[in-house]
Amino acid sequence: MSTLQSSSCSSAILEHLEENGPHQECKDVCISSLPKEKSQLSLYDGYWIPTWSMPGVLAFQKYFQARETDILLVTPPKAGTTWFKAILFALVNRMRYLDLQEHPLLTNISHALVPLLDVDIYNKKKVPDLNSFASPRLFATHLPFDLLPTSVKGSSCKIVYVCRNPKDNFVSLWHFMNRVYSTTNSLEEDFDKFCRGVSLYGPYWDHVLSYWKPIIEKQAQKILFLKYEEMKEQPTTHLKRIAEFLECPFSPEEDAKGTINDILQLCSFDNLSNLDVNKSGKWRFPEHNNTLFRQGIDHASFFRKGNSGDWVNYFTPQMTERLDHIIEEKFHGTGLKF
Ligand code: A3P
Repeated sequence: MSTLQSSSCSSAILEHLEENGPHQECKDVCISSLPKEKSQLSLYDGYWIPTWSMPGVLAFQKYFQARETDILLVTPPKAGTTWFKAILFALVNRMRYLDLQEHPLLTNISHALVPLLDVDIYNKKKVPDLNSFASPRLFATHLPFDLLPTSVKGSSCKIVYVCRNPKDNFVSLWHFMNRVYSTTNSLEEDFDKFCRGVSLYGPYWDHVLSYWKPIIEKQAQKILFLKYEEMKEQPTTHLKRIAEFLECPFSPEEDAKGTINDILQLCSFDNLSNLDVNKSGKWRFPEHNNTLFRQGIDHASFFRKGNSGDWVNYFTPQMTERLDHIIEEKFHGTGLKF
């Protein structure tokens, strides 16, 4: 479907929302009219969104009221969401949880502490009350910049965007889909789709550029752009960058006390992946509209290898050439390199 058709479709959805609210006929009528990939993904304003999460996306766009103090973590799925949720939570709340032996991250997966607004909150039936979240409110989403609510785009709330080398991101996504969704798609089949832009919240490059462009075009939005690989290589440097961006820099006393290391250690792959809650827990929403979420997703599926460069174990020379060519073409002239 052309972009034109797709966007006229979305404005029809929004008009419908004005009249009916997000969780009624719109769910069946408008969402069902969007182009589909095997009914699981819907093409909404140029991005492949899980069909079951569309009511939540529409409600989030319409009802969410951003505050200037809000912090929004945005990632394409499998770019390190679980890790960065933990890091941001530990960083922002470090004065509340001084005793690391009692830290909430030891008994909760980070997804339970930093919800995805569209998936975990607005996908439920009612317009939620978000006043109970402590300030600064810390939320997450996988949505591209273009699909964020106007209240976010028009506010000076802070966005931390994290992306990952597209090759590693693809490999991680392929494993996750096969494990969690029990799909049996071959690597080659999913790779072909990924290259054609058909992947969760994809096209991947459009997602990345949607957050990169406002930065290089010097738009007012406050966005910190990070890569998974940078954080792996220089965690201290980038944790300090994040803290400064969020206006909670480390004090000289904290530097001396080793607070930075404490946070990095608490959120490290080895530590989090070996906690009971993450080894055996399930991410479950009894009232969710999606069967998978009702049955529960193993927390362990969010922890696989936690390294950079695993793609070399999966890519043939032809796959490498094809994706390199796309990356070169899509990011040419943008200053972004992977
Ligand atoms: P791999 O599949 O390459 O191992 P998301 O959280 O967005 O779903 O991303 C999952 C990816 O992040 C997986 O990558 C997972 O292993 C990795 N990951 C999870 N926790 C991590 C951590 N604390 N540090 C580094 N990587 C982590």
